Amino acid sequence: MVKRRTSWHCSECGHKQARWSGQCPTCGVWNSLSEEVSQEEGLRGLVLSSGQKAPLALSEIPSDQVSRYHTGFQELDRVLGGGVVAGSLILLGGDPGIGKSTISLQMAAHVAAFQQTVIYISGEESLEQIALRARRVGVQDSLLFFNDTDVEKISKVIEEFRPQLVIVDSIQILFHREIPSSLGSITQVRECTSALMRIAKSSQTAIVIIGHVTKSGEIAGPKVLEHLVDTVLYFEGEQQQNLRFIRSIKNRFGPTDELAVFQMSSQGLQEVVNPSLLFIEDRVQGTPGTVVMPMIEGSRPMMVEAQALVTDTFFQTPSRRCTGFDSNRLALLLAVCEKRARLRLHQSDVFVSVTGGIRVSEPAADLGFLLSVVSSFMNKVFDADTTVIGEVGLGGEVRAVSRIETRIKEAMQMGFTTCLIPQKNMKAVSSYKEKVRLVPVRWVDEAIDLLL
Ligand code: TYD
Ligand code: MG
Repeated sequence: MVKRRTSWHCSECGHKQARWSGQCPTCGVWNSLSEEVSQEEGLRGLVLSSGQKAPLALSEIPSDQVSRYHTGFQELDRVLGGGVVAGSLILLGGDPGIGKSTISLQMAAHVAAFQQTVIYISGEESLEQIALRARRVGVQDSLLFFNDTDVEKISKVIEEFRPQLVIVDSIQILFHREIPSSLGSITQVRECTSALMRIAKSSQTAIVIIGHVTKSGEIAGPKVLEHLVDTVLYFEGEQQQNLRFIRSIKNRFGPTDELAVFQMSSQGLQEVVNPSLLFIEDRVQGTPGTVVMPMIEGSRPMMVEAQALVTDTFFQTPSRRCTGFDSNRLALLLAVCEKRARLRLHQSDVFVSVTGGIRVSEPAADLGFLLSVVSSFMNKVFDADTTVIGEVGLGGEVRAVSRIETRIKEAMQMGFTTCLIPQKNMKAVSSYKEKVRLVPVRWVDEAIDLLL
């Protein structure tokens, strides 16, 4: 008799262990482990044999130019490294309702408009629902739709129609008949993805798979698929605001950490070519607590506005809240303010946010956030024509940042006349002295003094 072996898998990160536990030891998420039947057969499915007999020298490998399809969005093309590569498998992850289906539909329609065969496979919505949306975003008639969730049937359709691009909406609803696990389980999602990977490689069809980011852990999230696919894109943004961001986390055919900015409209998503304008156009000047900084996302600079509100606290422990900024980083900046500038922030509630719903994770934003907090704390308005660049160290020193020139150029383009920059960066940009006022700072207290 064959012994049925089971193991426990985390639906968030894919961690596997022999026994159940309440919390995943790898990603720390609670109640995310579910039991799966071990699948020796399943593992075999992951192997992609190329049939090569002996190793080849670099010179013997043909330097095939990869062919790419444009998505119809310059922004998305840039994030993908120039467009969708033929035969590649792309994972598009994001919260439910953020716009994954919408952008995939727009992209599919654009590729189809160039006499390519494109199939949109929808398991979640009925053909009528998807058609309604397609007409709204102005899709041409040449796009094909297929409503099924069986991976084998989907493979057959791909083999028969030989499309250049296929959209699978979504991976969590697909199933493989031969896998005993339940729908949406790690094993199902993983096996379906590797089946799609095999189809993509063998038929040179580019496949975009949509994956919902799940909070509850009942269905497997896109995290468990990241290592299987060629490219991983994530949708970010606040549901309440109409700005959306697509970030590349992994890309075998292009750069990573590129960011594309979109706006949700009644005709689907529209790209934002100059995000700086959007982030700072409706800022209120003359209020304390706001500072604008030139940030870099991937290869693209953009001006973002940091806002801080510092008020007296009425509780034992003051509250600290961050939106779009790391709270540990804020705690560090507040500690530096206390120590170096003797600001008594421990009796204040501190709230910081970034306008537009974008997330700022660059260290070059430190000094800007610090000054926005100080500006609100002291109730002093920060000069609206000045921008701030600099990383803050634990000793209160302002550290040099990368790509200073790009930042200064962007600030100048957006009409800023003064830049507070790290002293250590001064030499690299001395040629800009005639065009813009550069104020070098070495310590955070120097920067704070300039504000006062
Ligand atoms: P959708 O693409 O269905 O999200 P996902 O596939 O990631 O779950 O987008 C859903 C939201 O987008 C929905 O709240 C309505 C909004 N939307 C628009 O505002 N304009 C549009 O043209 C479309 C198609 C959707
Ligand atoms: Mg959808």
